[in-house]
Amino acid sequence: MRIFITGGAGYIGSHVVKELLKKNHQIFVYDNLSSGHRQAVLGGFFIKGDLEDKNKLNQVFKRYKPKVIIHLASFIEAEESMKKPEKYFKNNVLNGINLLEAMIKNKIKYIIFSSSAAVYQPQKFPLKEDSPLKPFNVYGQTKYLFEKLLEYFDKNYGLKFISLRYFNAAGADLSGLIGEDHRPETHLIPNILKVALSQKKYLEIYGNDYPTKDGTCIRDYIHVSDLANAHILALKFLLKNKKSKIYNLGSEKGFSVKEVLEMARKITSKKIPAKIKPRRIGDPPILIASSNKIKKELGWQPKYSDLETIIKTAWQFYQNYPKGFDR
Ligand code: UFG
Repeated sequence: MRIFITGGAGYIGSHVVKELLKKNHQIFVYDNLSSGHRQAVLGGFFIKGDLEDKNKLNQVFKRYKPKVIIHLASFIEAEESMKKPEKYFKNNVLNGINLLEAMIKNKIKYIIFSSSAAVYQPQKFPLKEDSPLKPFNVYGQTKYLFEKLLEYFDKNYGLKFISLRYFNAAGADLSGLIGEDHRPETHLIPNILKVALSQKKYLEIYGNDYPTKDGTCIRDYIHVSDLANAHILALKFLLKNKKSKIYNLGSEKGFSVKEVLEMARKITSKKIPAKIKPRRIGDPPILIASSNKIKKELGWQPKYSDLETIIKTAWQFYQNYPKGFDR
């Protein structure tokens, strides 16, 4: 099948591409490489392009006639989104509308969207798909708005979507060929491992006064390959049933920043010093998923999402690429 992936050179996107290639799909990766890496795209046809460029989107849809769009391209940093909301609304919502309009114009009916745990009001756990939605940060608001747009495009134009609400994507492909490489890196596990590699002096722990067991934030870490696999199941379901759906993707377990750090110390056998710093704006204290719905309806089962495998696979990737891709 002809599948078009925005953000396919990014961290999650490159893992999704790898899964799709295993299933012999014909892949078209559309990425402006603003944060993705050409080297992370292990196959398929690469198109350097921006979602801002409506003409290019129309041209490539006309030319390559994809049946399904997997839309991962977006800005992803909660803290930055609080400081530069316009940047986030523009890229994650306005440019996303360009994509949806080009889909309608070219009669493309199916889309899988990478949404986020950040759409929820982070109050009562585990979070289910029908838990109250009240994004804690601008990033979450943009994901929430795009889900709303998808609902209207379904109602008005018959577009069918699956929105996957990722919790904290982490780890790396078991091959060690692809993994997480953000610049600057803001995510917890890569930052911990950079200290283990002596590229940073210490880990900054953003706040130890949260209402949690040890005062640090709790997150639900889900292995990126398990996330990628969920896209394969979503694709099958969407084409067979032609129904729009929303699913959470999390491991259903919460770990504090300190617990993640402890596990990384054990796996790397490094000391990994840490210092307590002020809270980071836009960080909710706790996020934990219920993934029951996707398990029940699509038969999804995470295979690699225990914290040990997550950190081991990430560590393996950094051993292969201590300075990241292309270096
Ligand atoms: N943290 C630290 N030190 C670091 C990095 C992170 O203490 O150097 C803490 C954060 O404060 C947070 C936890 O570790 O409590 C996890 O932080 P990440 O940045 O790894 O992940 P987030 O939960 O902030 O981010 C996730 C996704 C983002 C998305 C966000 C939306 O990874 O892409 O959810 O809520 F924007």
